[in-house]
Amino acid sequence: MFSPTLTEQQQRELAKRLTSFLSAYKHISDSYIIEFFTENLWQTLPVKWQEALGDLSPPQIADLLLDKHFNNRTYPTVWPLSLLAFCATAHTLAFPRIPRGRHAQQSVHGKPDEFHANESQSSLLGHLFRKHVKPKKQHEIRKLGMLVKQLCDFTGCNSVIDVGSGQGHLTRFLSFGLGLDVTGIEAELHLVTMASRFDGQLLRSLAKDRLKKPQLFQSAPGPVPHHVLGWVNPRASWEEFIKQLATKEKESESHCHWLCKRQRVSKTEEDRESTNESTAQSNCPTCSGMKQSLLQERTHNNSTDSINQPDSAVSSPESGVEPSSPSPLACPCKFDNKAGVDESPSSAFSSSCAASTLSTDPAVRLSQRKSTNSDFVLTGLHACGDLSATLLRHFANCPHVQGITSVACCYMKISTEENPNPPGVIHASPSNQTQGSSYPEFGYPMSEWVRGLPGHQLSYKAREGACHAVEDYVERLREGSGLLKSHCYRATLETIIRGLRPDLCRAGIQTIKKAHDLSFSEYAQLGFQRVGLPADLPLDHASVNAMLKQNSKVLVYFSLSLLLAPVVETMVLLDRMLFLQEKGLQSQLVALFDPAFSPRNLVLVAVKPRPDAD
Ligand SMILES: C[S@@+](CC[C@H](N)C(=O)[O-])C[C@H]1O[C@@H](n2cnc3c(N)ncnc32)[C@H](O)[C@@H]1O
Repeated sequence: MFSPTLTEQQQRELAKRLTSFLSAYKHISDSYIIEFFTENLWQTLPVKWQEALGDLSPPQIADLLLDKHFNNRTYPTVWPLSLLAFCATAHTLAFPRIPRGRHAQQSVHGKPDEFHANESQSSLLGHLFRKHVKPKKQHEIRKLGMLVKQLCDFTGCNSVIDVGSGQGHLTRFLSFGLGLDVTGIEAELHLVTMASRFDGQLLRSLAKDRLKKPQLFQSAPGPVPHHVLGWVNPRASWEEFIKQLATKEKESESHCHWLCKRQRVSKTEEDRESTNESTAQSNCPTCSGMKQSLLQERTHNNSTDSINQPDSAVSSPESGVEPSSPSPLACPCKFDNKAGVDESPSSAFSSSCAASTLSTDPAVRLSQRKSTNSDFVLTGLHACGDLSATLLRHFANCPHVQGITSVACCYMKISTEENPNPPGVIHASPSNQTQGSSYPEFGYPMSEWVRGLPGHQLSYKAREGACHAVEDYVERLREGSGLLKSHCYRATLETIIRGLRPDLCRAGIQTIKKAHDLSFSEYAQLGFQRVGLPADLPLDHASVNAMLKQNSKVLVYFSLSLLLAPVVETMVLLDRMLFLQEKGLQSQLVALFDPAFSPRNLVLVAVKPRPDAD
């Protein structure tokens, strides 16, 4: 129905259709599967739907309901048009989730190609960047890192702020691997501490590697990243955000690290040589490892004759963008694309982002961007709840932010007018809360257009559902995984608990490990204990068995709500695109990660228009 890049009018139309569709099926997206029996959810479906869906096997549910790309549809009965229309509309309205260049079937089955040789190590990422990093995150930091690098090259920025940086895996790859000057800001102290520790480990490994294979390390690694402890206040202005970064950066750095960084930023490539030597006696573990390796490298080589340029990683014939700041560490990332897969970031970031077209004309490229020292690119990898919305507001308002890549997650943690303080959100401690302006803005909706659409509201439950992994569930249904019992078990337990104690409705039971390997009686004993009831409560086996027999209906109902998950996600992300549009900024949604591997795979990408653009 639409390409990933939509005109303003198309965005508005799509928002209208999404709102009307989601309002019509709100009862499904707002329902809790654990209330399948207590709320008679099956009976809320039209009778014709019940008849068509009641006897489907798990693989049929996958093929006929959930998998948009499944071609050999054989319906066991004649389905009502309303049900067919529901499925088709849900599939059509949701943003495409398959990355460009991938086949739908590749993205439904198994891991991305880079994990074929070793399922826990990406063959496209150097070992230095894989340490402590799970395969999913390896895939994400590599793909997003390359896209951010491309954005930096295009905007002429060398600085990146990684917001909600966690353990700093992306930050580390962008800096050491891709040569960018990166600051990560993260609210959790233990994560910031780990990030710095991992940097030190990387530098020590690098020093060892360099001793073993000096020929592979002929130029300097990228700069030392900077990890800042700070809570980004969604209500703060961009000026406060910048101030927070500057202040916290200073506060959190040891003197030598601070000095090291300032020198790095202020010096030219040649100057850096002497800078590194002059500060080599430092006691800072992070900096000293860095300096040691830099010193070793400087004694061997001159950075211009490196044999390991990462250019092939970040340039592409399509975009014609040439990377800057090559780093030898990008070599182990195998950016030369030996695996032969489509790894070009430009295959994701299409040139149709009007005012910011990545030209293939060298003359145009040269004039594309000249950023000032204070300009930077913002990025957030799975920046949860309001954090992604905050990044977009700073991008729109702050003249120093030239580009943004925003990957969202945890949509239920977004603030809304109906639920301004959602649970599970990190709140500011009095000591790290920024003072000053207070904007009465919520994480959803952000745009005036969506705010004006009747029925635009998305409940907590609908947004929580949007975080589910459709592709993974399709796989489970096809495999007939034992895990498919878990919703029916939980719904049955809910019925029993409520019968005994109505006040314990939807009590938090937490995941019961290996529930699918347990009999229902064993499962119920553990569940009772979790809510403070005696484990040996007697069960009415006839009634329990009657409920457990309805497992396939539970699966169908859950799948109907899952079908709406990408539609809800589209609504949230489209609202963000419309918000940018209203600020005069065009954006694109790019399916970047493999959705079966990394379900929150859509990246919102935008750059500021060139000053000379029409
Ligand atoms: C889902 S994690 C992603 C971490 C990292 N970007 C990654 O991909 O590995 C989101 C991170 O954002 C941090 N965070 C959430 N809200 C924040 C805020 N307002 N300011 C700073 N950090 C925040 C959380 O502590 C968490 O580490």
